[in-house]
Amino acid sequence: MADFLSAYSIQHWLESAAQGYLMDTEFGHRPGEREPEPLLADDALREQAIRTTVQLVVGERCALAASSGLINAAPDEGSKRFLATQTLDEARHVEVFSQRLFDLGVPKTELESALSAHANPNLVRFAEVLLEKVDKKDFVAGVVGQNIVLEGMAFHVFEMLHASTAPLNSKFGHTLSGTIADERRHVGFGENRIGSLIQHCPERKPEIERMQREMSYYMLATFADAFRDAPDPARLQRMRAQAGAKPSEWQGVALDALEPKEMEALLADTVLKEFKIRLGRIGIEYQTPARP
Ligand SMILES: [Fe+2]
Ligand SMILES: [Fe+2]
Repeated sequence: MADFLSAYSIQHWLESAAQGYLMDTEFGHRPGEREPEPLLADDALREQAIRTTVQLVVGERCALAASSGLINAAPDEGSKRFLATQTLDEARHVEVFSQRLFDLGVPKTELESALSAHANPNLVRFAEVLLEKVDKKDFVAGVVGQNIVLEGMAFHVFEMLHASTAPLNSKFGHTLSGTIADERRHVGFGENRIGSLIQHCPERKPEIERMQREMSYYMLATFADAFRDAPDPARLQRMRAQAGAKPSEWQGVALDALEPKEMEALLADTVLKEFKIRLGRIGIEYQTPARP
C-alpha cells in the first residue's frame, strides 16, 4: 500500500504532471502553436477534425463525471486523493479538446449545439453504461469501467490519432501527448487498485464482466461509425506530401497504407487484446462483445 500511495499521490502528480510534462504548456500544447493552415482552409478536413474532437470531448466529459463521482464511493483515502488528481486531469482534457473545437472555428456560444449535433450515439450509450455504475456508488465496477475499459480505449485512440496526425499537426500532437501521459497513469491505477478488491468480492465478477461486454460492444460500434466517415485518404496523402511529413506508423504498421476499414480493425484488435490482458491481471474474464 505504501508504494501504491506514493505512486498515486498528489505530490507525485504535481512533480510529474503539473510541474513536469505540462510545464509551460498552453491548453496542452506549446504556446503560440496553431492548427495548420491547410487543415483550416479545407472545409471537409476541418469538419472531420471537428467531428473527431467532439467525440474526445464527449469521452472526457464522461471520464470527468466518473472520476469525480467515484471519489465519494472510494473505500480508502489514497484512492480518494488519486481520484481527485484524476478529476483535475479529466477536467483539463475536457478543456483542451473544447479549446481545439474553438480553434477549428466552432463559436464559443455554439459548443453545446456542436456537441449534440456530432456526438456519436454509440459513444453516448457507452458512457451511460459506465455512469449508471458510478451513480450507484459501485466503486469496483466503476473503476473497471472507467480506468480499464474507458481509459484503455482512450489511450489507444489517442495513440493512433497521435501517430497519424502529429507529423502534420504539432499543436494537436502536443495536446495528445500530454493527455496520453495522464491516461497512462489512470490505467495503471485501475489495475493496481482493483485487483485486490475483486479478490475479496468474487461474487461481483459476472456483473462486471457483463458491463465490460456491453461497453466493448458500444465501443466497436463507435469505431465502425467513426471510420465510416473517415476523410478521403487521397486528400490526406496530398496534405501529407505538401507538408513533407514523415510517414506515420503505429503498432508496427504503416498507417498511410491502410484503408479506413483496416485502420478500424487494427484499432479494435489492439484495444480488445489489451482489455483481455489487463482484465486477466485483475481476475476478470474478458467477454467477447457481439460484433456491431
Ligand atoms: Fe481523459
Ligand atoms: Fe483519464
